[in-house]
This record gives sequence, structure tokens and C-alpha cells, in this order.
Amino acid sequence: MEDVSDPPFRAVCKDNGAHLLYTEFISSEGLIRDAIKSRKKLDIFDYEKPVGIQIFGGDEDSLAMAAKIVDATNPDLLDINFGCPVKKVACRGAGAGVLKDVPLMIRLTDAVVKSTSLPVTVKTRLGWDDDSKNIEDVAERLQDTGIKALAIHGRTRTQMYKGEADWTLIARVKNNPRIHIPIFGNGDIDSPQKAVEYKERYGVDGIMIGRAAIGYPWIFREITHYVETGMHLPPPSIGERVAVCKKHLLKSLEWKGPVVGINEMRRHYTNYLKGLPNIKEYRLKLVTLKEPEEILEVLDQINSNYDGYEFERTPIHLINYHEKCAV
Ligand SMILES: Cc1cc2nc3c(=O)[nH]c(=O)nc-3n(C[C@H](O)[C@H](O)[C@H](O)COP(=O)(O)O)c2cc1C
Repeated sequence: MEDVSDPPFRAVCKDNGAHLLYTEFISSEGLIRDAIKSRKKLDIFDYEKPVGIQIFGGDEDSLAMAAKIVDATNPDLLDINFGCPVKKVACRGAGAGVLKDVPLMIRLTDAVVKSTSLPVTVKTRLGWDDDSKNIEDVAERLQDTGIKALAIHGRTRTQMYKGEADWTLIARVKNNPRIHIPIFGNGDIDSPQKAVEYKERYGVDGIMIGRAAIGYPWIFREITHYVETGMHLPPPSIGERVAVCKKHLLKSLEWKGPVVGINEMRRHYTNYLKGLPNIKEYRLKLVTLKEPEEILEVLDQINSNYDGYEFERTPIHLINYHEKCAV
């Protein structure tokens, strides 16, 4: 996820049971221009493997060159984004914009498959809008290019994040006898029960989780535990929450440097501390302090002051990002 799935975030997801991680999407044009921001997003680490690097673009040559650059960083797979709905991407012929031109999508995918020795996967949506839900045709044609798996977010581009994800079409793709590559379902999974229910009902090979992991990386281990035992893990204790928050902060400092690391970490505290009563003052300190030691000290105070606090199992609230991205 853009501005979310950076190495510090991926590290805490990995610690808490994510089986496969992806980088945020990276512009192919940025990579070939050698833009620092794009290059930095290629950073992957051994401890997070298996990890996929995701690229996007609307030009065959650029995508092919970007694929070669990705190759050199040695991820486990290379993913192409044909799902991003935001105007600056989709309306410039990349991301979900490519769903309007399936022959182009196939040429772009073909160019990537031919330029890399890595397994190539694709992430996309059901179609551009309600009148053009072409994922069944798209899936067959993508498979024919040689991709190794397909992840489908059960919404159209014009839906952005509105309404509920429709997994019935994802299931139709999965149950198409011509389809033999793994199909990953995506959209609105926010609890272990829903993950298991959707996996069984729609028969997908894997489940991809986005928003539910933001501030709650424990979702992964909770799902695995529920799959294996049919039982719920207790919610993470205050000690675990603070430990994960600290690790996220320390990894951010390490990877982004002190200024950006501290600034960008500020958006995460609210999520990590959700459910704690009278937390406002502490939160204010966390988002205003500038020294790592002071922030770590506040986190330690929270840990000791809320020691033994019994968290309730509350539903994860999935933010409706379409308001932010509306065209
Ligand atoms: C902030 C944000 C950034 C995202 N960035 C990406 C991205 O870079 N690549 C991608 O494939 N999907 C991206 N997505 C979409 C998610 O991967 C996922 O398809 C979508 O959120 C629906 O799944 P969910 O209900 O589990 O969140 C992003 C979503 C959010 C909320």
C-alpha cells in the first residue's frame, strides 16, 4: 500500500504472521529516471522473504526496463499493479486505467514477463465500472501471458472503495476450468472469521489483506491461528502493542533517518493505541515530541500505566479511502 507498506511496516507484519509481503507500488518511469524516491522503495531485506516488488506504468518499454531493474534486487516475485484507482495513475493510462484497454494490458504484461526471470504476478480489479466488469476475460488473457498468480480486488475502478467488495466474480474466475494459476481474493477482510468464511465460500487460493493490517499487524497471526484451531487468539496485550509500536518506530528511524522516520511514524500511533481509555495526552506527546528517546520513554510510560489492561475484541474499522481519492 502506497505510503504504508514500507520496510518498517512490512517488518511488523512479517513478525506477526504475514505469509507474503509486497512493497508499495513503484513507478516504472521513476525507476528508469533513477528517481531517489522510487529507487528507495526497492529496498527489501532477507528477513521479510518471500516478498514481491510491485511496479506500475502504462508504457511497454518503461515497464520492461523497470522489470530489469527490479530483477537486480532479487525479490521473490514481481507484481504489476493494474488496480490503482487514483486519478493521477488511472487517468494517465496506468493502474486500473489499463482495465479500459485489455490489449494494452496484455502487451504490458507480456513485456514484463519477457524482461525478467522472476515469477510475475498481477493485481487488478473487477473492471473499470459496473458496465465493464471484464475480469473473467482479463484473467484468462493474463494467464496466457505466463503470469504465475492473479490477485483480484472485488471492486471496479469507479467504485474506488465504495460499497462492499463483490467476491462472487472472484469466485467465477477461480472456478473457471481454464484457470490454473493461483487466484488471491482481496477486499474488506477485517477478521479471522471473515477470512475463513470467504476462503471457504469463494474457494480462492489465498487472501490478500490491506487496510485491516494498518495499525493491527496481528490480523495475520489471528487468521492463521483461527484457520488452524477454529479459536480466537486473545487481543494483543499492552506489552505486545508497545513492543510492536517501538519496533516500527526503530525500523523507521533506521530506514528513513530521524526526521522523516519520526514524522511518518506519527500517523501510526492512533491505530496502535486504539481501545485505550484516556490516551489523548500520551498521543499528543507522541505526535509532537522530536527526540527518539523521548518518544520511547512515553511508550514505556504507556506500557507501565496500562499494564494488565484488558482489551476487548473490537471490529477493525476499514477506512473508506475513496473520499481521499475521489475524482
Ligand atoms: C492507503 C492505501 C494504499 C494502497 N496502495 C496500493 C498499492 O500501492 N498497490 C496495490 O496493489 N494496492 C494498493 N492499495 C489497495 C489495497 O492493496 C487493497 O486492494 C484494497 O485496500 C482493498 O483491500 P482491503 O479491503 O483489504 O484494504 C492501497 C490501499 C490503501 C488503503
